[in-house]
Amino acid sequence: MLQHVKAGRLPFHTPGHKQGRGLSRRLAALLGRRALAIDLDPPVLAGPSREIPPDKARRQAEELAAALFGAERTFFLVNGTTLGLQASLLALCPPGQAVLLPRYVHRSVIGGLILSGARPVFLPVAYDEEWGLPLGVEPAVLEREGSRHPEARALLLTSPTYYGLTPDLQGAVGFCRARGIPLLVDEAHGAHLGFSPRLPQSALAAGADVVVQSAHKTLGVLTQASLLHVKRGRAAAAKIQEMVALLETSSPSPLLLASLDAACAELAERGKDLVERAVDLAWRARRALEGLPNLRCLGPEVVGKGGVAGFDPTRLVVSVRGLGLTGLQAGAWLAEHCGLQVEMADLENLVLVITAADDRRTVDRLVQGLRRLAEAFKEQKGTGGAHRKWVEPPSPVLAVTPREAALAPMRLLPLAEAAGRICGEVISVYPPGVPVLCPGEVISREMISYLLWAREQGLHLTGSAAGEAGTIICAELDMV
Ligand SMILES: Cc1ncc(COP(=O)(O)O)c(C=O)c1O
Repeated sequence: MLQHVKAGRLPFHTPGHKQGRGLSRRLAALLGRRALAIDLDPPVLAGPSREIPPDKARRQAEELAAALFGAERTFFLVNGTTLGLQASLLALCPPGQAVLLPRYVHRSVIGGLILSGARPVFLPVAYDEEWGLPLGVEPAVLEREGSRHPEARALLLTSPTYYGLTPDLQGAVGFCRARGIPLLVDEAHGAHLGFSPRLPQSALAAGADVVVQSAHKTLGVLTQASLLHVKRGRAAAAKIQEMVALLETSSPSPLLLASLDAACAELAERGKDLVERAVDLAWRARRALEGLPNLRCLGPEVVGKGGVAGFDPTRLVVSVRGLGLTGLQAGAWLAEHCGLQVEMADLENLVLVITAADDRRTVDRLVQGLRRLAEAFKEQKGTGGAHRKWVEPPSPVLAVTPREAALAPMRLLPLAEAAGRICGEVISVYPPGVPVLCPGEVISREMISYLLWAREQGLHLTGSAAGEAGTIICAELDMV
């Protein structure tokens, strides 16, 4: 995409840093002159004679990506999967219409519901008490909720979850086809899945209609760069394109776009080799971890439990419960003593990501660090503990749509005084960062004690509840 960038012209155009000249010296040295030289606005990239307009170059690159991933139309995104999910919900889920989705969706999905005005029908999710993590939606639960809500206009699933677990996508495709509704898949953590038969089936291969992938999470792509794939005919693709254009900046970063294009070219050439190598490395780590005392790595035995149909071995979920530590404590210990940074640590587990950027050396260092952790805490008793007061967050009741509540007049109240009111904001608890309370849901006493407890545990809350004051935005609406 960048082959037509002309070097050496004196820039009298935006961006204001003028190919790095106006950037702080330290930052310019850190980023490098060459990267800054191509950080240009689209009209400038096209050159004075507009020999290759950037929108045409982008479209060509997107077509190659669509062929690679098996989509009818692919969009490059510079504002992450967040934008892809929001644009898809805006395009396919009209105001007031019901959308079926599991409770553990990412907060960007709730953002999409606020934008579109659609009404969420949350599907109950099975939890694994032993591992302290969400599994999936059981097929029978999907069928039951589907017949309770024949008015539903779409199904949205997360596959894989943060913990690398995938649902029965083929079953979900059958469910949607029988009802003539689209299946949207948040595949933020699964852009690599289609490149190895040893990984769970990708959503596109299973027959999903819209799939959004955070390419930046598992492929060699810069942060923020994502892919939105559509396989539901030209009208749906055109509508989604319209919504992407509505939400996207008119100055997309060429660095982000080029990183997507280059990664797709590399995947086309040797994607299978790269991803297979990551899978091999992950199994190498798994085998080495097997013998470590009091540490357990979530493995294929999880398949078949609570709606889980597949698991991604490159996502290492390591339970540190047997060491008498929380995942948060273990993650901090690994960072301080072994120079290892985990992807996520929750109250029970560490989550570690192996990609094609790893090699034997990095994986062996990880194993060595976990060995030292197991050794350092081997005398300590397992927690079995106090922090497990809540295995899963309480399930709130929806009073009005997220959009109605988010756009209503607001009042900021102390958490302790908010019982019985309608929530006006998205409150997520990180890790793992899923919304526990959405705009339009009733704030119960149980939810208040859950949020206060989560704060005590050192979990990070988003929204106004996050601050020291412990407040919450309530929608000023009469209870319905
Ligand atoms: C399941 C899931 N969906 C969507 C997103 C949003 O992705 P992005 O950061 O690419 O906007 C995330 C980010 O962590 C996620 O975990």
